[in-house]
Amino acid sequence: MPSALQRVLLAEPRGACAGVHRAIETVERALRIHGAPVYVRKQIVHNEHVVRELEGRGARFVDTEEEVPAGAVCVFSAHGVSPQVRENARRRELTVIDATCPLVAKVHQEAVRFARDMDTLILIGHVGHEEIEGTYGEAPERTVVVGSVEEARRLDLPPDVRAAYLTQTTLSVDDTAGIVAVLRERFPELTGPASADICYASQNRQNAVKAIAGRSDLVLVVGSANSSNSLRLVEVARAAGAEARLLPDPELLDPAWLEGVRTVGLTAGASVPEIQVERALRLLAELGYGDLETEVTATENVVFKLPPELEEQNMAKDGGDTVAGPPASVERGVVEEACGKLLDRVDLRIEELLSAEEARWNAVDARVAVPVSVIAELIAAGGKRLRPLFCLTGYLAAGGATDEDTVVDAAAALELLHAFALIHDDIMDNSPTRRGVPTVHAAYTDLHARRAWAGESRRYGEGVAILAGDLALSYANRLAGRLTGPAAEVWHELAAEMIIGQQLDIALAAEVKADPDLARWVAVCKSGRYTIHRPLALGAAIAGRPGLNGVFEAYGVAAGEAFQLRDDLLDAFGDAAVTGKPTGLDLDEHKMTLLLALGAAKDPRVAELVEGSRRADWDPAGLRAALLASGVRAEVEERIDALVADARTAVADAGLPDHWRLRFGELADMVAYRDR
Ligand code: IPE
Ligand code: IPE
Ligand code: MG
Ligand code: MG
Ligand code: MG
Repeated sequence: MPSALQRVLLAEPRGACAGVHRAIETVERALRIHGAPVYVRKQIVHNEHVVRELEGRGARFVDTEEEVPAGAVCVFSAHGVSPQVRENARRRELTVIDATCPLVAKVHQEAVRFARDMDTLILIGHVGHEEIEGTYGEAPERTVVVGSVEEARRLDLPPDVRAAYLTQTTLSVDDTAGIVAVLRERFPELTGPASADICYASQNRQNAVKAIAGRSDLVLVVGSANSSNSLRLVEVARAAGAEARLLPDPELLDPAWLEGVRTVGLTAGASVPEIQVERALRLLAELGYGDLETEVTATENVVFKLPPELEEQNMAKDGGDTVAGPPASVERGVVEEACGKLLDRVDLRIEELLSAEEARWNAVDARVAVPVSVIAELIAAGGKRLRPLFCLTGYLAAGGATDEDTVVDAAAALELLHAFALIHDDIMDNSPTRRGVPTVHAAYTDLHARRAWAGESRRYGEGVAILAGDLALSYANRLAGRLTGPAAEVWHELAAEMIIGQQLDIALAAEVKADPDLARWVAVCKSGRYTIHRPLALGAAIAGRPGLNGVFEAYGVAAGEAFQLRDDLLDAFGDAAVTGKPTGLDLDEHKMTLLLALGAAKDPRVAELVEGSRRADWDPAGLRAALLASGVRAEVEERIDALVADARTAVADAGLPDHWRLRFGELADMVAYRDR
C-alpha cells in the first residue's frame, strides 16, 4: 500500500549540461548535413541511451580514429582528444567535427600554457578516463596524473619543483580541494588555473544533490556507470549522509530498494537527457511515489554555440560594400570564432560566480539570495552583451593571445557592471520592463503589494533593486580585481564616467533643458565611452597594447553616438515587443534625449512644446506628433549614417589588417542599425 508520505525530492540543477546538449546536437546536425554514416570517436557523451538513439539514426561509434574509413566524417566526443589523435585524423584525411566541450578545451589551452612555462604539470583526475587521456596528451613528457590524496602524498617530485595543477572538469569539488591542499603543502610554489577547472555543471549538480541528500532516505542518480560526474554525485550524496545508488537505466529501478523509504531523492548526471529523468519519475509514481517536490539551488542558462564546422555560413559570407579578398574573409571567420568562444566563457564565468553565490546565500536563508537571483535573472533574460563583445574585440584586435582568463573576467565584469547600471537606471527612469520582463523594482513593488507586507510597496521594490544593483557592482569589481596598470585605470574611468553621465541625464530631465551639446555629452558618456570606447580600450590594455586607444576613442565615440541615437529612436518609435523596453518612456519621463534636443533645435514647434511645459502640462503625445512632423527622424537617420562612416574611417586609418577593418565596420553597423 503506498503511503501518503511517500514522495520524490527532485534536485535542480540536474541532468544534461550545455556541453552535452551541444555534443548531441553536433552529431544530429552532422547526420543531417553529411548523411549516414557519421563516425563518432568514443561515446559522444557517457550515456548508453544517447548512444543507442544516435546509432539508430546512423551514427557509428568507434574506439579509435584508426577505425574510421579514410576521408569519412568523424566527430570527436565531448571529452576532448589529444594532439596525437588530431594528427592521426589529419593523416587519414578525415572530415573532423570537434564536439569537445568548450570547458574541456579551456583546460587543454591551460595545459599548453603551463607546459610551456613550468617543469611539471600535475593533472588531477582519473587515469583511463577519456578526458584525462586527451589533456595528458598535450604534454605527456612533463605531465603526471594524480587521482587521490594518497597519490598526491606519494608523488615523487622535489619540494621546489616549478609545477602547476589542472583538473578533470567532472571531479568532486570537495575531494579535489583535499588533493590540492596536500599538493600545496608539499610544493609551496604550486600554481593553478585562474578559475576552477571543475565545470559549473558538476559544481551545481553536486551542490544540488547535497541539498536533497539530508532530506532523502535514498538518493537515486540517473547516469551510466562510465560517467565520471554521475559517479561523483553518488559519492557526494553518500558523503552527505544519504544512502545512494546509481541508476544506469530507469527500467533497472528495483522496487526492493524502496523498502521503508519515504523520500526518494532524484538527480541525474550531466550526460543524461531529461527524458530519462521523466521516465524514472513515472516509474516511481507507479510505485506510489507520486508526490513531487523540486529543490532548486541554482538556475542555469548556459548555452554553447555549435562547433564552427557546422556553421556553413561562417566562412562564406563577405562584408558589406567593402571589397575583401578571400584571405580577409577567412581570417575574419577565425576572429569571429575566437571571439564567440571567449563570449561563451564570459557567460559561463558569470554563471559560475552567481550560482556559487546563490547556493551560498540560499543555505543561510532564501530571502538573502534574492538580490543574487535578481541579477542572474536579468542576465539570463537576454541583452546584447555589447560591452563584453567590444572588450574581447579590443583584446583580439590588439593581438591579445596570452591572457585569456583576465580578459574573460574583465568582459564578465563589464556585463555585471551593466546589470548594476540598468537596474538603477530603471528606477531613475521609472521603467516597468527591461529585456522583455518586469524591471526589478517593479517586480518587487508588485510582490510587496500582493503579499500585503508592511510599509510602502514602492520603497520595498526600489530597496531590493538598489541592493541588487549594488551587489552587481560589487561582483563586477571582484571580477575586475586582477586588472592592473592601464587596464585598471580604464576600468575605474569607465564606471565613474557612466555614473556621471547618468547624473547629467537626470538633471537635464528635471530642469527640462533640451540642449544638443549637453544631450550629446550624456550620449557620449553612457554610450560612446561606456559601451564602446572604454571596453575596446580595456581589452587592448589587457593585451598590452594601449597604443590603440586613440583609434578606439574616435571609433567608439562615433559608433556610440550612433548607438544612442538608435536607442532614442527605438524608445520613441520602436516596437516594445522587440526592444523588451517600453515605447515612449523617454517622452513620458521628459528625458532630454539627443533626439529631442535635435528636434527642438530643428523645429520651433518642438522647442515650444518643451519650453511651454514650464507653464502648461507636459504633453508626451503632442511632442511625439511634433517630432514626427518636424522631419527630425530622417535627419537623425542621416546623422547615424554619417557617424557610422566616421567610425569606419577611424579604423580604416589605423593600419589594422583588412579583416579587422571589416569586422569593426560590421560592428558599427550592428550597433547603429539594430531593432532592439
Ligand atoms: C541599454 O544598453 C542602455 C544604454 C546604454 C542605452 P543596451 O542596449 O546595450 O542593453 P542590453 O544590454 O542589450 O539589454
Ligand atoms: C541608460 O540609458 C544608460 C546606462 C548607462 C545604463 P537609457 O536610460 O537610455 O537606457 P535604456 O533605454 O533604459 O535601456
Ligand atoms: Mg536612463
Ligand atoms: Mg532608461
Ligand atoms: Mg534609452
